Amino acid sequence: MSSIVRAAALFVAHRPVNSTARVFEYSTDIEQEPRDDAQDAPSEREWPTEGHVQVDGIAARYGPDKPEVLHEVSFELKPGQSVGCCGPSGSGKSSISQALLRTLETTRGKITIDGRDIADVPLETLRSRITLIPQGALAVRGRD
Ligand SMILES: Nc1ncnc2c1ncn2[C@@H]1O[C@H](COP(=O)(O)OP(=O)(O)OP(=O)(O)O)[C@@H](O)[C@H]1O
Ligand SMILES: [Mg+2]
Repeated sequence: MSSIVRAAALFVAHRPVNSTARVFEYSTDIEQEPRDDAQDAPSEREWPTEGHVQVDGIAARYGPDKPEVLHEVSFELKPGQSVGCCGPSGSGKSSISQALLRTLETTRGKITIDGRDIADVPLETLRSRITLIPQGALAVRGRD
């Protein structure tokens, strides 16, 4: 067997082991976010209606002992507006989108969507009403 074919065979054979190790790592080694059982008030069930995003001076870090990765970021997205976010690798584009879903919690500043501070929105509501297509996009086929 040529060394390339042997390397390819080893790679295929190791893939299920790697996947299992990764599932194990994700389920045991990663700190879980606090549980959030909050419910939406009936008056807020239709939120958001316009899509007016206001970001005021937010800062964020990936952990208490990690460096700050967003520093005083402010911008406004008007309803219906299409906006591109450009910047060098590592400048914080993905971190901003994570802050919108609170998978990255802000340490300062405020984000409001249609006037509602997202810090007060139940996580299930927030994450089910905002769609985020990740950078490494994965399309899951629905039912035919
Ligand atoms: N999960 C994480 N844990 C710790 N630090 C992180 C994590 N994700 C990103 N960072 C750090 O946050 C900073 C901003 O990264 P971010 O991924 O938001 O940049 P980006 O602009 O989206 O980059 P790219 O163009 O490469 O996607 C970088 O310094 C990065 O190393
Ligand atoms: Mg990114």
